[in-house]
Amino acid sequence: MVRDIRTIANIGSGTMGHATALQFAVAGYPVKLVDCSQELLDAGMARIRSDAEEFAQAGLLAQGESVEDVLSRITTYTDYEHGATGADFIIESIVEKLDVKQKVWSEIEQYAPEDAIFATNTSGLSPTSIQSVLKHPERLVVAHFWNPAQLMPLVEVVPGESTAEEVEDATFELMRKIGKKPAKIRKESLGFVGNRLQLAVLREAFNIMNEGIADAETIDTVVKYSLGRRWNLVGPVASADLGGLDTFYNVSTYLLKDMDNGTEPSPLLEAKVQAGDLGAKTGRGFYEWTGETGQAII
Ligand code: NAI
Repeated sequence: MVRDIRTIANIGSGTMGHATALQFAVAGYPVKLVDCSQELLDAGMARIRSDAEEFAQAGLLAQGESVEDVLSRITTYTDYEHGATGADFIIESIVEKLDVKQKVWSEIEQYAPEDAIFATNTSGLSPTSIQSVLKHPERLVVAHFWNPAQLMPLVEVVPGESTAEEVEDATFELMRKIGKKPAKIRKESLGFVGNRLQLAVLREAFNIMNEGIADAETIDTVVKYSLGRRWNLVGPVASADLGGLDTFYNVSTYLLKDMDNGTEPSPLLEAKVQAGDLGAKTGRGFYEWTGETGQAII
């Protein structure tokens, strides 16, 4: 049986970890925040404070709640013994390397309660591989938040081969309780669902640029004022239903042949990366970027 979820342990306080910790604290949960040093934890807490202040200004804190109330729910630790002991739900957002995640989870398992849920915020590593090192593999599930996690509603809940259904269900329910829009994915796959769809659209966007059909700004204009708005309301599949599946079938018969079906990164993308034009973080990608640097978005 899955235990009542009262206390959260949040491993990692970087880009994703600070934001998930904030979400749980805003929702009223005590959070044990763990990182490798007090310095990293202080930096994570500074980001949490700054985001909590933005929440307060936007009226997103519960009635009568102050930023200090939210922060007071978070305690910091530099070791798993104190960080994981007594936690009911442990969410991990550390470096995206299988061996590191396996090592960290095995260590956490020594201290966590036997029936605590282990949720990894991996972008795409196999939960089956991560859970394979555990004594209780059935307790590990993916909870894939989208960056910036304090603002993006979606969390993909993805089981590994050994994940218990009640662990998935409890994770889904917890995500709902903290105000997210969880999506229960049936089985693991590279990129889960969101990143597969994102890459499918980007592959064709790069192809359109490569073929000289339209530039980056035009593509973004087309998506923002048509697909983006429509998909925000009904999603692409319902949108096909509403448009008429016969029409989509007919379009598929001539259009798919002309589209990019490649399995390698676009030459356009490769050239940008080789030139060091990595987007907002280097000041130039398909656009010129000034001011604040961007963050990774997968
Ligand atoms: P990050 O580098 O900003 O933060 C990682 C944090 O984990 C750092 O504070 C680091 O000190 C800490 N850490 C490293 N090893 C640790 C350990 N053994 N114990 C405790 N803390 C440790 O990385 P980011 O971007 O937050 O990514 C974390 C995870 O989230 C990765 O698996 C990534 O693939 C995934 N993710 C990232 C997204 C993004 O857009 N950045 C989106 C969704 C998932």
